[in-house]
Amino acid sequence: MPREQLFATKSLSSLLKEMAGAHRLRRVLGPVGLSSLGVGAIIGAGIFVATGAAAREYTGPSLMVSYLVAGITCVFAALCYAEFASMAPVAGSAYTYAYTTLGELAAWIIGWDLILEYAVGAATVANGWSGYFQSVLANWGIVLPKAWCHGPIGYKSGVFHLTDSYINLPAVVIVTIITAVLIWGIQESAKLNAIMVFIKVAAIVFVVLVGAFYINPANWRPFAPYGWTGISFFGIPVCGQTNAGGEPLGMLAGTAIIFFAYIGFDAVSTHAEEAIRPQRDIPIAILASLLISTVLYVAVVAVLTGMVPSDSLNKNAGVADAFAQKGLPWAEFIVASAGVAGITSALLVMMLSAPRVILAMARDGLLPERFFADIHPRFLTPWKSTLVLGIAIGTMAGVLPIDALLHLANIGTLLAFVIVCAAVLVMRRTNPDAKRPFRCPWSPVIPSLGIACCLLLMFSLPAANWWRLVIWLGLGLVVYFSYGYWHSHVRQQLKEEIRQHDPACLGAMPTSEPAT
Ligand code: ALA
Repeated sequence: MPREQLFATKSLSSLLKEMAGAHRLRRVLGPVGLSSLGVGAIIGAGIFVATGAAAREYTGPSLMVSYLVAGITCVFAALCYAEFASMAPVAGSAYTYAYTTLGELAAWIIGWDLILEYAVGAATVANGWSGYFQSVLANWGIVLPKAWCHGPIGYKSGVFHLTDSYINLPAVVIVTIITAVLIWGIQESAKLNAIMVFIKVAAIVFVVLVGAFYINPANWRPFAPYGWTGISFFGIPVCGQTNAGGEPLGMLAGTAIIFFAYIGFDAVSTHAEEAIRPQRDIPIAILASLLISTVLYVAVVAVLTGMVPSDSLNKNAGVADAFAQKGLPWAEFIVASAGVAGITSALLVMMLSAPRVILAMARDGLLPERFFADIHPRFLTPWKSTLVLGIAIGTMAGVLPIDALLHLANIGTLLAFVIVCAAVLVMRRTNPDAKRPFRCPWSPVIPSLGIACCLLLMFSLPAANWWRLVIWLGLGLVVYFSYGYWHSHVRQQLKEEIRQHDPACLGAMPTSEPAT
């Protein structure tokens, strides 16, 4: 197989030409709408659900530093995303960036990885939504039958087991509702999202302002009861304490766990095709949504761990429960209800992004185009890919446990960030003169720091996640070599060009269909 074909790249000019073609998505999103999509995707289950368990079991009050470290890591990656998004403002995000720099095979791998990130991320949020919703209902005296409140598969200390439940029904119901809203239309989804984002940001500000009056600084001591590290390498602890199950504990271990809370800023770049002025607004929205979320996260965790001792935080609904522990049921009610809306909006954006990556891959011929790139004639949304993903996400959320989903979403996202940072370095060499309306500052330092920090966090996740990632990527290669390789538009074009210039070479190239 000719090596050049696997590394065939898509030119920037062809991307920009495609953008001008018919059958594109509607350009309706401005900087506020895009930033709101970013904040909508970022703030969700990560802060409302995961904080309690992380502070209680892994970090203590030093969780606020974990959030800061994760935020800084994301800023490195975000600056790289912003540079690419300004150069190639089309749907598809990191997938498209890799296609223009590293070639088709790398693009396929990153696209396949992004599907994992968004789909598994969405399933995790749906699962977290269900746990949070059930905690809220329980406070009102409503308890769902056990058979319907979580999935049939459980997960403890890295081992799966069967539970006594049939399915996580609330998770399946919320995924079904969001899928229907997404098929209905981007403008409608953006409006619904804007309302929910407003509610959740207001709730977070409320937590900080009201909670600040109940801080007892004694709760911040000791600040890092499990230490400042907690690094492992393929599951083998390298430095720091571990728990009974051998998992690393400490501030950095907490960073790898709560990293999930930041997933979503990159989702902004999947909406470049729907942006009114993508070259200016996408970088603004990526950075603005990340900065807003980091400030809010650190403030919430500072207040939360100051209000109650970290070891008494609730595992499913830590933020709301802290107010209950302080004897403020009205505040708990406000935070709990806003939390439900907040997590719903995170789910909406994650589920909005995955079909757009598939759409970009299908348009390049790497996935069946007639099916996955089909835009609904009335709603103008990629409805078939939205529906297929909705079914997959609903199934994962309904059947699998949250911890296993969370780790897998984290590792998939970190890999995407590593590739985007690397792609910026490559693009600066291969295309130094391309127009870059936004430039990542201090390159190569920032992209290299992004790669190093993301790899460090990836290594700190339990080893089983590496195997799951490898299996997913292996499956992706099977799909690529049995379909994408033979139908790729870029490769067809390359073949055509070679045919015109040097017909003798074609004997060494494969035909457009797999050999039977
Ligand atoms: N960052 C998103 C959340 O925390 C996925 O829910």
